[in-house]
This record gives sequence, C-alpha cells and structure tokens, in this order.
Amino acid sequence: MEAAGARNRDARGRAEKSPPESRKVYMDYNATTPLEPEVIEAMTEAMREAWGNPSSSYPAGRKAKEIINTARENLAKMIGGQPQDVIFTSGGTESNNLVIQSMVKHFHKVHAANGDTGGHPSPVDRALPHIITCTVEHDSIRLPLEHLGEERKAEVTFVPVSKVNGQVEAEDILAAVRPATCLVTIMLANNETGVVMPVPEISRRVRALNQQRAAGGLPEVLVHTDAAQALGKQRVDVRDLGVDFLTIVGHKFYGPRIGALYVRGLGEHTPLYPMLFGGGQERNFRPGTENTPMIAGLGKAEFGERIHLNSQFPGAKRLPNTCNFSIQGPQLQGRALLAQCQTLLASVGAACHSDLGDRPSPVLLSCGIPVDVARNAIRLSVGRSSTRAEVDLVVQDLKQAVARLEGQA
Ligand SMILES: Cc1ncc(COP(=O)(O)O)c(C=O)c1O
Repeated sequence: MEAAGARNRDARGRAEKSPPESRKVYMDYNATTPLEPEVIEAMTEAMREAWGNPSSSYPAGRKAKEIINTARENLAKMIGGQPQDVIFTSGGTESNNLVIQSMVKHFHKVHAANGDTGGHPSPVDRALPHIITCTVEHDSIRLPLEHLGEERKAEVTFVPVSKVNGQVEAEDILAAVRPATCLVTIMLANNETGVVMPVPEISRRVRALNQQRAAGGLPEVLVHTDAAQALGKQRVDVRDLGVDFLTIVGHKFYGPRIGALYVRGLGEHTPLYPMLFGGGQERNFRPGTENTPMIAGLGKAEFGERIHLNSQFPGAKRLPNTCNFSIQGPQLQGRALLAQCQTLLASVGAACHSDLGDRPSPVLLSCGIPVDVARNAIRLSVGRSSTRAEVDLVVQDLKQAVARLEGQA
C-alpha cells in the first residue's frame, strides 16, 4: 500500500497528485461512542488494583467489591434511582431480554398457579401474558417478543408510531391494553430518528389505569423503557419517567460495552426473574463473577461522581443554554475555580449578586442545594455564537484548574 501523500499513477503509469488527504469525521455516535479517557483510566486501575474476586475477603477482592459498589451508586445517581435497584448486565440486549422474559415468567407463575391450585381465581387465569410495544423498537426488544409470540408463550401488540411526528401516542398504548397485559415497553429515544417518546405520559396513564385494574383483580401493568440512546444525550431520571424498568447501555455514552438494568424496588415492588443461574452474584438476579474493570468504567462514564448539577429538578423545564453545577471538593469554591481558569469567563451566579463575596447563592440555597455544594457553584450560559469546540475547551480548562487547586498540576 502506498504511503499517505504519495503520488498515484494514472492509467499510463504517470505520476498524478493525490487528492488532498481527507480528514475523517466520526458521526456515528448512536452506533457506539469512544471511551472517555477517565473511563479508560478507571478500567485500567481496576485491572491493576482490583483483580481479586469481588466475593473474596482479602484486599484485592475487597477493593473490587468497593469499586462495584461505587459504580452502582454513580449509575443510580445518574438516573435518579437507588443503588439497590441497579444490577449489572452484559449490555442492552441482555437488559431488554431480561425484562421481557421476567415479566412473562411472573405472569405464568402467578396466573397459571392460581388456575391450577384453586387459589384466588383471577379473570386472566390461563390467559397468555400480553405485552405492548411499538413498531420502531430495537431488535433486542422486537425479536424476543416476536419469538415469544411464535412459541405461544405471550401475545404482543406492536403499536404503530405516528407518521406525523414519529412518536408512539400514549392514547394508542392505552387503547391496546387488555385484561392480561402485564408490560408496556417503549424506548426513550429512537436510534434511527432520534425521536423522543412520551414515556412520562405513558407511565402516568398506565399508573392511573393500574388503580382501576387492581379493583378488578387484573394484573398490574409495568412500564419499561430502553434508554440506550437517551443516556448521555439528555437528562434521564427514573422519577420523571415514572418507569419500573430502565435499560442502560454503557457504550452509547462513552463507557464500556456492558450495561445495567434499573428495576424500581427490585424484588419488592417489582419482580425480577433471572435468566441465568449460578454463583449468586447481583443477589442472584444476574449471577456470574462480576466484570470489575467494565463495571468500574461504566460507573465513570457519564458524569464524574464529583459533579453536582444544581439545576436539575424532577419535572422542571429549564432554559437549554444554562448549566449550573458544582465540582465537589474542599478547595473548589466557585470563585477560586474561576480564578484559576485561563480560558473560561463565567460567574458563580447572577451578575447583580456579585457583591456576595464567598457566600453561596441565595437562589441555590432556596432551591434546596446544600450550602457546601452551593459554595462551589459555577453558572455557565452559552449564546448564539458559542460552539461545541468552545465547550470542549472550557471543560479542559476547568479540569486543569481543578488539578492546580488540588495540587496535582
Ligand atoms: C435503542 C437500543 N437499544 C438496545 C441496544 C442494544 O445494545 P447492545 O447491542 O449493546 O446490547 C441498542 C444498540 O444499538 C440500541 O440502539
């Protein structure tokens, strides 16, 4: 192969100038994302320092366990859930299959058993479980559902999306509910169109319907969302979404190729039946010796655990240009950090409050941000001429300023 920049030969063997070397631009981030350097660092450290079996009690094992617990806490924080409601899986495909298989098993267990044992009869005893989804889901939802339908283990309704806006309509989902419906699974954002589905509205309406269903002895309808494409691109909060299950896929948001499943009130409010049986890890919901380095990377992937976003309130709409955050650490008060920045020009709050000195913003305190977090707040607001490259520059600037203040640079 000719070296880059060398001359090509034309049909007669004469040298001709190569086309200018073309720069490749990656624009396939929905397929996968490169690993963040911090993620690679966390994974490398875990491979070096935490190679022990997380179930072992000696230091290398204990360190692995600690890393896994921290990653679980970070992931839970990222989606507004509880750490005990997060289990690690091999990826989105497994998380999606696990939800579907689990709901089918649960339905068969509860309703077939009632029919067989003469326990409390229900209007759906001996019926097949019914699952509702839409026509634009990823294959890791569509194919297991089709398979269950072919095997006569479940019935499935594929609700078409609107040709006007690409969304599935909550109304159509509700209209598809039958007595034996046990699960609605709708992706949060579509991988091909990027359309965001009305999951909060669907959950809200399903919850209201569940109250009527309970009175009639019908099974509760649980809601799952595959958030593979939304995480890392928009805020994802299980409290806002109101879902019972949420699929997390690391390699779509700068993390490694593993995943997780959020289950609201895992094992208590929401049942989960394992697909695998083995050594009891992940409280038996997903056994198999934990892949510590990958889990460490997943826990690092979105926001570092030190960043506190001060303006994310469940259900609140915000201006898209405004970001208020604190980097937590005793030396990182907002003003001190800004003073260390070499590129960034920003403030710690409203310009008209610049006489507050080191006192934290009363606005943030009124919104319930703890004093020690509010003290480190920085407000960034972008404008028409701001560019992505400038944002990247500012992130680097802030990282270097933090390292200087903490004496690491
Ligand atoms: C919406 C969605 N769900 C699930 C997946 C499956 O993820 P994985 O292939 O990592 O298991 C993908 C991956 O392309 C996806 O885009």
